Amino acid sequence: MFQARAVILSTLFLAFLLSLQGAGAIKADHVSTYAIFAQTHSPSGEYMFEFDEDEQFYVDLDKKETIWHLPEFGRAFSFDAQGGLTNIAIANSNLNILIKRTNRTQAPNDPPEVIVFPKEPVELGEPNVLICHVDRFFPPVLNVTWLRNGQPVTVGVSESIFLPRTDYSFHKFHYLTFLPNTEDVYDCKVEHWGLDEPLLTHWEPQEPIQVTETMETVVCALGLVVGLVGITVGTVLIIRALQSSRDPRAQGPL
Ligand SMILES: *[C@@H]1O[C@H](CO)[C@@H](O)[C@H](O)[C@H]1NC(C)=O
Ligand SMILES: *[C@@H]1O[C@H](CO)[C@@H](O)[C@H](O)[C@H]1NC(C)=O
Repeated sequence: MFQARAVILSTLFLAFLLSLQGAGAIKADHVSTYAIFAQTHSPSGEYMFEFDEDEQFYVDLDKKETIWHLPEFGRAFSFDAQGGLTNIAIANSNLNILIKRTNRTQAPNDPPEVIVFPKEPVELGEPNVLICHVDRFFPPVLNVTWLRNGQPVTVGVSESIFLPRTDYSFHKFHYLTFLPNTEDVYDCKVEHWGLDEPLLTHWEPQEPIQVTETMETVVCALGLVVGLVGITVGTVLIIRALQSSRDPRAQGPL
């Protein structure tokens, strides 16, 4: 378990200096940074670019291709994946030197902080996405599992890459599409070397569950109908009452 934190430090520092230079001359409105790491555990490394702290792309080291965070970017820009692979090779060679120089001293583990929240306000029967944000951990080695009523879920799950933070720790997002109902409860289970045991972060719909927009419309429409019927019936009764008070023949069954 040997981590090359120094490699991340030096590359992040370089990128930061470059963006600061821009800031010195003219006030920089936007900041582009990149992060690279290599380690002796899975994932073996990562090469990614950020623009204003949003992921722009990363290089898939197995498929040897650039993966754009938004497909639109891929149509407008290009990045040769080979550049990323070359940098990863350099980081790996630095890593081996660091392992020897430090006499195989392992970098300390920083355990993650985890929060779980829904993407949209929760409405019964309206598809939604649960987000598990795993934050401030090091090294970038994690196992994350979604549990529905205690059982692992593998359908409808997705995840981000490891995203660098300026303090040289990482954060990462895991997603689960779900249909809110009153029965299912969820947990985001996180395993990390900085934790003594797996960390379960619980989430379940709060009571009362927000009334859906459709339901609001139905209730509103029903109210309107009842109101209109009331007014109509009331008007008819008043007219009848007026008529019968003026015309004695209208009295009794019609
Ligand atoms: C590195 O580890 C080896 C084996 O444990 C030990 O003999 C050697 O003195 C260590 N070197 C340093 C610089 O700590
Ligand atoms: C993740 O799970 C694998 C397989 O169960 C295990 O070998 C590994 O140690 C776990 N990693 C962490 C960080 O707990």
